[in-house]
Amino acid sequence: MIRINEHYDKLQASYLFSDIARRVKAYQDAHPDQKVIRLGIGDVTEPLPAACIEALHKAVDEMATSSTFRGYGPEQGYDFLRQTIAINDFQQRGAPVEADEIFVSDGAKCDTANIQELFSTDIRVAIPDPVYPVYVDTNVMAGRTGVAVNSRYQGLVYLPSNEENGFVPDLPTEPVDLVYLCFPNNPTGATATREQLTRWVNYALENKTLILYDAAYEAFIRDSSLPHSIYEIPGARDCAIEFRSFSKTAGFTGTRCAFTVVPKSLNGYNSQGNPVPLHPMWNRRHTTKFNGVSYPIQRAAEAVYSTEGQAQTKALIDFYLENAAIIRQTLTELGYAVTGGINAPYVWVKTGQADSWKFFDTLLDRAQVVTTPGSGFGHCGQGYIRISAFNSRGQVEEAMTRIKKVI
Ligand code: MLT
Repeated sequence: MIRINEHYDKLQASYLFSDIARRVKAYQDAHPDQKVIRLGIGDVTEPLPAACIEALHKAVDEMATSSTFRGYGPEQGYDFLRQTIAINDFQQRGAPVEADEIFVSDGAKCDTANIQELFSTDIRVAIPDPVYPVYVDTNVMAGRTGVAVNSRYQGLVYLPSNEENGFVPDLPTEPVDLVYLCFPNNPTGATATREQLTRWVNYALENKTLILYDAAYEAFIRDSSLPHSIYEIPGARDCAIEFRSFSKTAGFTGTRCAFTVVPKSLNGYNSQGNPVPLHPMWNRRHTTKFNGVSYPIQRAAEAVYSTEGQAQTKALIDFYLENAAIIRQTLTELGYAVTGGINAPYVWVKTGQADSWKFFDTLLDRAQVVTTPGSGFGHCGQGYIRISAFNSRGQVEEAMTRIKKVI
């Protein structure tokens, strides 16, 4: 008899964005003439930068000739990409990361989910609230939580991110072994200052806590005082793993390329309390379960760092940030308290209504605009919606015109 993993029974509803997609489809089926505008899931709409397309074409051509054809690549990623990332994303910012500490993968979502395989099931996990639902759901699947009570899983330590703390969670008041942080934040768009991150790093070092730092949106940072990487903070190499992605940076949501940094100086602890380096463990996991990102896609990712690629990706991100500014301005003019959308592609709107889904439904039914209900990201997201800046200028402007009309 094949027994199932019964921890799956504890999961509440379906994955947030699948749930939204189902509701939108039901609405669309019932109203086939209505044109829905999607500002829900953070999926890019603009084409890949020209430098990436050019590199992609060239790499595809290499695959057509036996002398340049490539089969399996190194599971951790080609050296040309790992070196380029280490220099441009880290060393040039004063963050001490070496090329062989970078593991190229097909997504930060998968990596943030898969990394927990390295850790014992009885560790205490701290999760900001609201939060990207993948961090919570994957810990539920792994059996690290009890059942959900009032939409909070027993056994998890929730760290509220709210107006009072500027949507940057305070340090835990009880011991935790693992904490997820994401800056610029999904969903609130909040950023963490150097001082705030330093507090987290010092806490982690003192308590032997591991920080899983999701920096998928770092390219949206325009405030030069803000750190892009946790490794810009002294000591972070000994307490943090960082996740990055080309998805939002360069429009790779459909082409898939990301990377995770596991410093060689970073340790976990075995049951005797002895330190065990995490780098060889992740290397073992990665080489056993993953066969690498395709060569053409890694060449396209490398092109992000060329002179043209840098200018083109900056322009791409500027474009989405201008969308975010339009969204912020409209919602502010309508009298809503708005945060995010300045160093991040997400605008976090306090709806003034108790139920986020109600506001979501109002915008869908009356303006045919899809957003994401804040409560889908956790208890503290109740009463908020997230509006994504990822869409064309025309669609964003049209969405704002419609919202102005119906609100
Ligand atoms: C989001 O909308 O939160 C993101 O697109 C989800 C993701 O990157 O997986």
